[in-house]
Amino acid sequence: MMMRFSLILQHNVSLHTCYCFVLLFLLFFSSLSSSEAYDALDPYGNITIKWDLVGWQPDGYIAIVTINNYQQYRHIPAPGWSLTWTWAEKELIWNIIGAMTTKQGNCSRFKGYHPRSCEKSPTVVDLLPSTPYNQKVPNCCKGGVLTSWAQDPKNAVASFQLTVGRAGTTNRTVRVPRNFTLNAPGSGYTCGQAKIVRPTLFITLDKRRVTQALMTWNVTCTYSRFLAQRAAPTCCVSLSSFYNDTRVPCPTCSCACKTNSTCLK
Ligand SMILES: *[C@@H]1O[C@H](CO)[C@@H](O)[C@H](O)[C@H]1NC(C)=O
Ligand SMILES: *[C@@H]1O[C@H](CO)[C@@H](O)[C@H](O)[C@H]1NC(C)=O
Ligand SMILES: *[C@@H]1O[C@H](CO)[C@@H](O)[C@H](O)[C@H]1NC(C)=O
Ligand SMILES: *[C@@H]1O[C@H](CO)[C@@H](O)[C@H](O)[C@H]1NC(C)=O
Ligand SMILES: *[C@@H]1O[C@H](CO)[C@@H](O)[C@H](O)[C@H]1NC(C)=O
Ligand SMILES: *[C@@H]1O[C@H](CO)[C@@H](O)[C@H](O)[C@H]1NC(C)=O
Ligand SMILES: *[C@@H]1O[C@H](CO)[C@@H](O)[C@H](O)[C@H]1NC(C)=O
Repeated sequence: MMMRFSLILQHNVSLHTCYCFVLLFLLFFSSLSSSEAYDALDPYGNITIKWDLVGWQPDGYIAIVTINNYQQYRHIPAPGWSLTWTWAEKELIWNIIGAMTTKQGNCSRFKGYHPRSCEKSPTVVDLLPSTPYNQKVPNCCKGGVLTSWAQDPKNAVASFQLTVGRAGTTNRTVRVPRNFTLNAPGSGYTCGQAKIVRPTLFITLDKRRVTQALMTWNVTCTYSRFLAQRAAPTCCVSLSSFYNDTRVPCPTCSCACKTNSTCLK
């Protein structure tokens, strides 16, 4: 494994090229059904998006959003994830730390204030590791890259903090956002509905105190081969990336390699 890593580095293969040494290309013929998401080697693999409301504001709340890549083998490569949802009402984003919204939208009615996004369906992307310390939150700022759970659980998690306005200010009046979409380069994920779950417990570093979120909801997204195939129509095999080539021997690149990378055997 190490030898292969160094060989790859010598070849200066970019993140976009085919990770032949870690990819397993399962033969994929067009007969696959459209919503195929089942992966025999990782049947429960999913990405969970969790919103923990940690404080109330005069007109809304502060939420910590955490994305966990619970997939055993599939990572999210550069340029990274983006997350979109649709507000249930007229919510807006006053502030965001550890990530950014791609568009501000029409905030003209908030003269003198500068919300980060007034869009009905905001899109959030990660910041780069070089982000100044005071604009970071724990687990943020990885350029959107998430490793797979089996590879490195510490780097399989992303997080950002939102200050949401024009929203409910109690756990009875808050409206859960809808239509979550998680995008990753070359892959498609289908997200279910957000579900209100038991509030997350937070344990302080010294383990002497436990606090709890005011309210928590979870969204589960699963990989969809159909969406992935549509996103990368040049591939004639489905992409199923594995970080451990001892499970299945690494095959040749096959036609899924878009760029010229030498398959190391
Ligand atoms: C998501 O993945 C986790 C970890 O593998 C698993 O415990 C959980 O049941 C999965 N959730 C769904 C909805 O499949
Ligand atoms: C922006 O919103 C204001 C009202 O809030 C509206 O009058 C204006 O036409 C909108 N501008 C655009 C470009 O949609
Ligand atoms: C959100 O999803 C609902 C169904 O759950 C759909 O009716 C609606 O059109 C979607 N809205 C947007 C903006 O995608
Ligand atoms: C919600 O998701 C988190 C991980 O993001 C997980 O630890 C927790 O068990 C989930 N809760 C429920 C009720 O599914
Ligand atoms: C709302 O808050 C009350 C008390 O603060 C708590 O008992 C209840 O479980 C919370 N509901 C939800 C959905 O978190
Ligand atoms: C690959 O997986 C096998 C067992 O599934 C494990 O023993 C081995 O340590 C793994 N190798 C790497 C490099 O993760
Ligand atoms: C691919 O790379 C190999 C060696 O790195 C080279 O011999 C070959 O000509 C390249 N093919 C294309 C199509 O660029």
